[in-house]
Amino acid sequence: MPASVQEYLEEKRASFEADLFELLSIPSVSTDSTRAPEVRRCAREVARQLREAGLTKVEVMDTAGHPVVYGERLNAPGKPTVLVYGHYDVQPEDPVELWTSPPFKPTVRDGKVYARGATDDKGQFLVHVKAVQAMLASRGELPVNVKFVIEGEEEIGSRNLAPFLRQHKDLLKADMVVISDSAMFAPGIPSILYGLRGLAYFQIDLTGADSDLHSGVFGGAVPNPGFEICRLVARLKDASGRILIPGFYDKVRELEPEERAEYAALPFDEEEFRAGLNVPALDGEEGYTVLERRWARPTLEVNGMLCGFTGEGAKTVLPNKAMVKISCRLVPDQEPEEIAALVKAHIESLVPPTVRANVRALHGGKGWIAPRNHPALKAAARAIEREFGRPPVFVREGGSIPIVVDFEQILRVPGILVGFGLNDENLHAPDEHMDLGNFHRGIRTSMLLLEELAGVPAGLP
Ligand code: BES
Ligand code: ZN
Repeated sequence: MPASVQEYLEEKRASFEADLFELLSIPSVSTDSTRAPEVRRCAREVARQLREAGLTKVEVMDTAGHPVVYGERLNAPGKPTVLVYGHYDVQPEDPVELWTSPPFKPTVRDGKVYARGATDDKGQFLVHVKAVQAMLASRGELPVNVKFVIEGEEEIGSRNLAPFLRQHKDLLKADMVVISDSAMFAPGIPSILYGLRGLAYFQIDLTGADSDLHSGVFGGAVPNPGFEICRLVARLKDASGRILIPGFYDKVRELEPEERAEYAALPFDEEEFRAGLNVPALDGEEGYTVLERRWARPTLEVNGMLCGFTGEGAKTVLPNKAMVKISCRLVPDQEPEEIAALVKAHIESLVPPTVRANVRALHGGKGWIAPRNHPALKAAARAIEREFGRPPVFVREGGSIPIVVDFEQILRVPGILVGFGLNDENLHAPDEHMDLGNFHRGIRTSMLLLEELAGVPAGLP
């Protein structure tokens, strides 16, 4: 990288961080309807920063839900057009009492910025905005055309983004989509993602009597939805970790032997992983390694339960309601709608005649797996190697970014997924943070990436 660019980056270090902190101080929690004005304020701040970076046609575009922020710079005729996708919405901050510093007051400790959304995804999409800013400031123009789509509903399933892509197909026409919304394999070990899991999410409500009852006067003769919901959940998986929903595994694409060999060769120690999480033992499906379980096998998990008395001390009560939220991570080629129907039907068949049940599918998304030999991915690997001094490892991830499949299917663009976060940065949890060293490294990598992508012929399938 030329000295002038390095100098510019050095000079702007603090101001780039200040722009990140500005975004992090806005509580853009998409699931919380009372925060809709904050979500919109965040969209406007993203737009301001896109303009400041030198993008044109910057607009906060309305959808049926939270807005999408768009911006472009199309001054590289004949060169490919790189779409950059990210999300400015964040997960709720609760339990807020477990944060060391307030979730929307970005605080730097030990070279990391702590705030909700730091690594997921404000600190990551901003890397590309700052790369554009730095390239325009230090060399006047970009080596490729760029379009930015930063959405506000990723954490609630991107429900209005696929229609947005369909509606604005021409505006969004591009040759590839770059997404930084994931993690590096480990500190200093960059990765390119070629697979993500999908999702099917459910809520189950069981109801018994019309109200809570005295557990002595009525207990033993009246159904207990709390007990029944436990019994029901317990019947969904067997002791070897296999999910007991008929048909659930029918479309699961098995791991290729080469993939298993590659995963086994990665520098990953299961015992270290266990100790780092401080669990007495790991869990999961028999016959698969931890990486295989996390990346390429479907799951069924309890996300939360609500029932009866949970206050201090004892209260003798027979609750009349119980609720559980369950999610399945899916893998190619499981279809979220098909799985939702199978799970719903099976759960309904397990409900005893003593309680009433309402089983609802809340949202879902498809898993994704990409071929690894696209020239754009090779270009990305070269850019990463130039910055990190080592080639990236090719990995899958257990999390979901369902819109990646829509980008492929609606806009016909391959996804280049390069994460600059780390999986222990507490995404979705208290004390979320991002390593600022990786933030700046991400900016340099993104500049190299745009440079390398300039050499990929436009219009490739
Ligand atoms: N950035 C994450 C997904 C992710 C995390 C991918 C780590 C790879 C590595 C994203 O914001 C997220 O949390 N997505 C949700 C999707 C859901 C709401 C449809 C998820 O995975 O739970
Ligand atoms: Zn994210």
